[in-house]
Amino acid sequence: MVVTVAVPTETSTGERRVASVPDVVAKLTKAGIGVRVQSGAGERAYLTDASFQAAGAVLVEGTSGLYSGAQVVLRVNPPSPEEVQLMDPETIVVGFLGPGKNLPTVRAMLDRKLTAFALELVPRITRAQGMDALSSQATVAGYASTLLAASESAKFFPMLTTAAGTIRPSRVLILGAGVAGLTAIATARRLGATVEAYDVRRAAGEQVRSLGAKFLELAINAEGTGGYARELTPEEKAQESVMVSKAVAEADVVITTANVPGRRAPRLVTKETVATMRPGAVIVDLAAESGGNCELTRAGETIIDHGVKIVGPLNLPSRVPTHASQMYAKNLQSFLELLISRDGALVTDYTDEILAASCLVRNGEVRHQGTREALDARA
Ligand code: NAI
Repeated sequence: MVVTVAVPTETSTGERRVASVPDVVAKLTKAGIGVRVQSGAGERAYLTDASFQAAGAVLVEGTSGLYSGAQVVLRVNPPSPEEVQLMDPETIVVGFLGPGKNLPTVRAMLDRKLTAFALELVPRITRAQGMDALSSQATVAGYASTLLAASESAKFFPMLTTAAGTIRPSRVLILGAGVAGLTAIATARRLGATVEAYDVRRAAGEQVRSLGAKFLELAINAEGTGGYARELTPEEKAQESVMVSKAVAEADVVITTANVPGRRAPRLVTKETVATMRPGAVIVDLAAESGGNCELTRAGETIIDHGVKIVGPLNLPSRVPTHASQMYAKNLQSFLELLISRDGALVTDYTDEILAASCLVRNGEVRHQGTREALDARA
């Protein structure tokens, strides 16, 4: 039996991405996989129904016809519990599913005996790089954050020497030099700003310097497990706070991207520090959705405090929907190569490290500990 994959229109507010793109659909259909796309699914990423059809997809109006008979559903965001009810039992859902959250959807998936894979749980091992959607979307977010900061700033980024005088370049400070932070640095450098960056992982220093930025160093190396940062001790936090506050006060633009997996985002910029910044300065807080790196950040809003603009953007990848979708679709294509064998059948053995780690629910059971604990806490 040919495996059929369904690609619905994303329904979350403000979402412009889509889980597959015509180039990837063409590769899937060539590999013998049937692809159904909901009519209009790519519209907000400027991908037309006609382009999906030309790539071999079958267009379907609405969701009920889309899901019925499909074995795999590709999503950017989690489906609603109502949408889950439209899927056949044992359907496999793959996407950003927010492990530990979206519990009504998880319950609906358990009732319906669906299998779900959360891309957030894909281990960051070399073999899984092609399906690392956290990295691809963080790349988009980092780029978009710098452009957002530049458009909100009262100053030029580059140095300009003109008949009307010389303009000094903006000083841009990036806090957190992971995937998003490094892209933000590269983008700010391309725009001609002077860039400084800070991260608790010392290994980030070399990457920061290779992009032409200065690395602010503390006597801390908080590299935890899996290459991620660990939480700092109270003493380390105090040292960090002195250095970061001084750098923030001198910056025209601050872009914060610091995160510690599974925890609230670290607080790096206090309201007292904001009060020391120049009026007209801008903070773009990429951690707005996980509690904010700045004490004053409000998710989804822009506020002004002491003349400083504090922007708490939601879903930055959606601001670059065509390329964000293209990269995401490639990540899913790589994931499907694990899930569908070369002879076109669905893999049923999930002992592979990547499948085992990213499986959220299967056969009415929760496979992810954090989600299980969240469900038990609500029971
Ligand atoms: P993330 O989104 O979890 O965090 C962003 C950054 O914030 C990290 O660089 C982290 O060190 C930093 N941070 C945490 N607490 C901080 C604090 N108090 N002050 C300043 N910075 C702080 O991280 P992301 O971007 O998802 O990547 C994390 C790590 O995983 C990096 O080392 C990255 O190179 C690595 N990675 C490895 C991959 C692979 O080998 N396949 C793929 C992608 C990432």
